[in-house]
Amino acid sequence: MLSQDILVVGGGLAGLAAALASDPQLKVAVISKVHPLRSHSVAAQGGINAALGNSPDGQDDTWEKHAFDTIKGSDYLADQDIAELMCEKAISTIYELEHLGVPFSRFPGGVIAQRPFGGAGFPRTCYAADRTGLVILHTLFEQSVRRKVKFFNEWLVTKLAVKDGKCLGVVVYDLATGDIFPIKARAVIFATGGYGRVYLRTTNAFINHGSGIGIAYRAGVPLKDMEFVQFHPTSLYDTNILITEGARGEGGYLVNNKGKRFMEDYAPSAMELAPRDIVARAIQTEIEKGNGFEDQYVHLDLRHLEEKKIKKRLPGIREICINFAGIDPIDAPIPIQPAQHYSMGGIDVNAQCASVVEGFYAAGECACMSIHGANRLGGNSLLDTVVFGKTAGEEASHAVKGGKGSKDAERFLLDEALEVKKKIEEWGKKDSGEKVHRLLNRLKVIMSEKVDMFRNKKDLSAALDEISELRGDYGRVLISGKCLRYSQELVNIIEFDSMLDLAEVITLGALNREETRGSHFREDFQDRNDKDWLKHTLVTLKDGKPHINFKEVNITKYEPKARKY
Ligand code: FUM
Repeated sequence: MLSQDILVVGGGLAGLAAALASDPQLKVAVISKVHPLRSHSVAAQGGINAALGNSPDGQDDTWEKHAFDTIKGSDYLADQDIAELMCEKAISTIYELEHLGVPFSRFPGGVIAQRPFGGAGFPRTCYAADRTGLVILHTLFEQSVRRKVKFFNEWLVTKLAVKDGKCLGVVVYDLATGDIFPIKARAVIFATGGYGRVYLRTTNAFINHGSGIGIAYRAGVPLKDMEFVQFHPTSLYDTNILITEGARGEGGYLVNNKGKRFMEDYAPSAMELAPRDIVARAIQTEIEKGNGFEDQYVHLDLRHLEEKKIKKRLPGIREICINFAGIDPIDAPIPIQPAQHYSMGGIDVNAQCASVVEGFYAAGECACMSIHGANRLGGNSLLDTVVFGKTAGEEASHAVKGGKGSKDAERFLLDEALEVKKKIEEWGKKDSGEKVHRLLNRLKVIMSEKVDMFRNKKDLSAALDEISELRGDYGRVLISGKCLRYSQELVNIIEFDSMLDLAEVITLGALNREETRGSHFREDFQDRNDKDWLKHTLVTLKDGKPHINFKEVNITKYEPKARKY
């Protein structure tokens, strides 16, 4: 049986940071369902935050101010000690990335360039034009290859093997061979990313089904704050490709069909650079009031930035607009609409990235360490992946070196793999039943129509009923193709189970939380209610059903106040 000391699942930024930080004397491998350079981190555009104070307007910046902006942006649901930890580590993290070879853009004079981003008091987002995720991912991948990290690409993890509260390894589906088999591991780190494809409109890649989060939940790990779903204000109309917040950071305007910069009605000081929850709701409100174009989008106007700046700072955006919308932002405004972008919630882990299951860790978007609370600030996600990916690798290494292996792990792992194989055989034997792509589409419609940016009790309750109906239909799903090599149908069937769980947990949390906070807007409870709801939601699977309980928010020195921008 294949056996590793540390098994990292996910080849994006958090996964590679974890692998690089793991003790080189240990056997460390990364499993990824795609080649690591195709991980969704590659699509991150605008930048990564750190209070370097390099911008002429940002010299008074400090990590404490970064922490304050993060906490205020989170609508005070962030655990303040963790936000402080991340912002303090941000500065050395950027220099480490620089030393590893990340080609950041520079100001004249040579220091790392920084641009303004939403909800930030100073220009503190470091960037590489508008391809920041791509360059960091390539650099960390190169470094991983240099350090001889073992990669198993195009392997999908289907199950976490947990016995008596201890993680013993995983079961995988090897896409190239169609085989199902277990891998023994002394520690497993999930860095499996988000679940954007549960929604119809998302900036996320097609691989972002969120199955890592669902697998952890099935293994008994609680999910935290899943009702907080981030909608990015500016995705390209129709295809929903990300149009970076950096475009507004560079000075882009949001304009409605009256030619008005409407953000003055919603966030008169911050305007286009208010936090994402506020800007996304403002855009949707304008569209619903009839102030959009074709009732679908508003304009992001960059024309006044002029050709030189657009070509230098936003070349990728220009290319996307030309290739996917047939417009050049130098000459025409960009049609944009909000789309699902990020999950503030995820696998409940502590500051060491450890979960309640011994030997199981999580980092990056799949994890919820409560840094981002109810709304993440742009530029804090790349930071989170690199800072806490590293923490996960270091902590797992300490635990493995100080711990003992499990004797009867192999028998247990083989049984777990057998169970997965039997399930696949059952799906393959049916000659009539449900096709997974239809179920997938129905789920996306439910989530997009009823668990979107604006929520209410009636829709959320109806969504729960429809998700439960869909679960019944999933019981009749079949594999129609007979070949299990590179079967996207099988991948979808396996992952759909998790998607149903995630949809249920998001919806349940949203129904339960009778207040408006950050990204969670309840039409029927429009105020934030700190008295009853300044707490994290935890959902645990018990006897096949979700159970809700709560956890306190850690406040250090920032008393919750009304957010004004
Ligand atoms: O708009 C963006 O470039 C996205 C950044 C982020 O999600 O942090």
